[in-house]
Amino acid sequence: MGVSGKRIVLGVTGGVAAYKAAVLTRELQRAGAQVQVVMTEAGTRFVGPATFQALTGEPVFVDQWDARIVNGMAHIELSRAADAIVIAPASADFIASLAQGRAGDLLATLCLARECPLAVAPAMNRQMWENPATQRNIQQLRNDGIEVVGPDSGDQACGETGMGRMLEPEAIVEALASWLSPKPLLGKRVLITAGPTFEPIDPVRGITNRSSGKMGFALAGACVQAGAEVTLVAGPVSLDTPWGVRQRINVQTAQQMHDAVHRQLDAAAHAAHPHDVFIAVAAVADWRPASYSDAKIKKTDAQSVPQLQFTQNPDILASVAARKPAPYCVGFAAESDSLERHGRDKLIRKGIPLLVANIGHETFGRDDNELLVLDGSSQTRLARAPKHELARELVHEIARRLDLPR
Ligand SMILES: Cc1cc2nc3c(=O)[nH]c(=O)nc-3n(C[C@H](O)[C@H](O)[C@H](O)COP(=O)(O)O)c2cc1C
Repeated sequence: MGVSGKRIVLGVTGGVAAYKAAVLTRELQRAGAQVQVVMTEAGTRFVGPATFQALTGEPVFVDQWDARIVNGMAHIELSRAADAIVIAPASADFIASLAQGRAGDLLATLCLARECPLAVAPAMNRQMWENPATQRNIQQLRNDGIEVVGPDSGDQACGETGMGRMLEPEAIVEALASWLSPKPLLGKRVLITAGPTFEPIDPVRGITNRSSGKMGFALAGACVQAGAEVTLVAGPVSLDTPWGVRQRINVQTAQQMHDAVHRQLDAAAHAAHPHDVFIAVAAVADWRPASYSDAKIKKTDAQSVPQLQFTQNPDILASVAARKPAPYCVGFAAESDSLERHGRDKLIRKGIPLLVANIGHETFGRDDNELLVLDGSSQTRLARAPKHELARELVHEIARRLDLPR
């Protein structure tokens, strides 16, 4: 799925961001893709082909008269062998050439001769990007079914700040993975909670847990890749928002998370486009300190220890499952023993159709995991794998149950 196992022709054109294409090559390989680099002549002025040759272990092609391809038709051979072509960076000049269907060099010719999908990651200075000619060309590419990834805004090599920077390599890989993945959640709206909550005691202290947010964020990314419109409500974590997530709402406490979730559900229901799926991955504190001290609680003497009283937090998942109508609710459980029994209890207690239990309680903060997926009648074990892979498997488990009668 995504870019894994795909043969990708990476086209590098003449822009300063060409240096990032080397990192992109690596990231694509790390994601399981096989990369073949083709450069424009201008591209080679910025980074030498030897760099890409060393990274990919494949010859780099620039010239359409390259004699290394036996039948002399590199453009046909290369495009036939590709599952997708990605131009990163895509210069303003190359974008213009694509928009006009020109075939002035090897890369342009193989884009024109392709039968596979084509994506471009524009990279240029702000004025070049904003120029009406470039905007017209980009619109033309979109009309022609070419995927335009980015650009981003920020500091530019020319000293300007604004729109036109190439998207970072990691974000390009995520965007490509999304674009090349099957879309079982196309048109669905998904709301996900992730991370821990933080329940303050005083302005400097509080109670939290060891949830890193990695599983929830991976699921948000996997839902985007599956075509869903995703809103992410996140507790305090230091993770970047996965590419393509429509909205991220940061909260601290369980009460804030509860309120944010119901506000989102209400707003979507009002707009007559309610959420189809709610995935509660966040490790929400069951209790919070009954009182909050506005001032830092002082350590007076060694004998006196503050006595904390607790009060119940709202049960976010049960409250969403009790809504009428309710989205398809997926719960997560981190049990330390009797996984299946406790998991099934939770399924019934919360009134939800699907529960995902972490196998082993050392899941927090790790990059991999092992899961047990329980519904009313069956259980499926998802073998230990990186969280982003498990997230894709889980999306599949959710998607195939969505249209079943509940
Ligand atoms: C130092 C330098 C930096 C450049 N940076 C960019 C850039 O970031 N984006 C862009 O579209 N063009 C940039 N250009 C202009 C392109 O290199 C030029 O339009 C070239 O003809 C593009 O050729 P290609 O599209 O065949 O790769 C730059 C030129 C120079 C000399």
